[in-house]
Amino acid sequence: MSHKTIEQIGKLRKSLKAVILAHNYQRSEVQDIADFTGDSLELSRKAAGTDAEVIVFCGVHFMAETAKILSPEKTVLLPDKKAGCPMADMITLEQLEKEKAKYPGVQVVCYVNSTAAVKAGSDICCTSANAVRVVERVKKNRPILFVPDQYLGHYAMARTGIEMHLWPGYCPTHVKIEVADVRRQKTRYPDSKVVVHPECRPDVIDEADEALSTSGIIRYARSYQGRTLIVGTENGILHRLRKENPAVEYVPVTQRSICPNMKRITLEKVLWSMEKMQPRIEIPETIRQRALAAVERMLEL
Ligand code: 13P
Ligand code: SF4
Repeated sequence: MSHKTIEQIGKLRKSLKAVILAHNYQRSEVQDIADFTGDSLELSRKAAGTDAEVIVFCGVHFMAETAKILSPEKTVLLPDKKAGCPMADMITLEQLEKEKAKYPGVQVVCYVNSTAAVKAGSDICCTSANAVRVVERVKKNRPILFVPDQYLGHYAMARTGIEMHLWPGYCPTHVKIEVADVRRQKTRYPDSKVVVHPECRPDVIDEADEALSTSGIIRYARSYQGRTLIVGTENGILHRLRKENPAVEYVPVTQRSICPNMKRITLEKVLWSMEKMQPRIEIPETIRQRALAAVERMLEL
């Protein structure tokens, strides 16, 4: 079944002039058929730069929305429209506007894990790969509000020493990674380094050797000299790590860190979506224009 599905996806990819983009947390078989696999920053750059007519986005809703913000003339397909990001849904534009009113002159730094409407109400976006750089670049004489991830915001604050107001959002998958899990794995693999994602809780980040974006973790592993590496993020990343650099043994901090939304995309849904040209991402033009300004300010850095 899978072999036939892959063949049909390949044919449609050509006839539709489609590009298939997959996030590093996707199912192994979905990553394997993608034209490009990456982190949020890399995927948004790809979406902005491709000359394909159709983008099949294997990830979650905000990622496909970012592709549409950058490439409004292209058809952007998200093979399962229920593949959302609970963290992105932890703040609405109305809530953001109320919060902004509390801090006159505020500048909003918005993690891309947010809706297009929230991006539209923000000054600049960031991803986990460039949050520290973005925060360093915003004006220091005005208050800064960081939304929606309190933990990425806390991490950027700790790394830059710049005070920010943090919206209390979080990733339900990364908060499952606990400091006790890290310590247990360190006892089991004492010679191993620990790399985690900056969406993890601060005590988990403090216990780790590095906090990196998903592609940052993959690059770190390429030059890693040890035999075993302990990895604290969504476990879909293990597939790419093992495929690209099999000399190292990768050990998840915990088996619990699985994002059910990322796993909604299957090969069958990719095929169905390309056949039907559904579900399409659409964004009202006024929202898109304002969200684009925030995303472009990030990409210009
Ligand atoms: P990256 O940008 O590091 O790939 O992270 C995206 C994400 O959703 C993390 O939960
Ligand atoms: Fe959202 Fe967390 Fe899933 Fe990333 S891992 S898509 S932040 S719920």
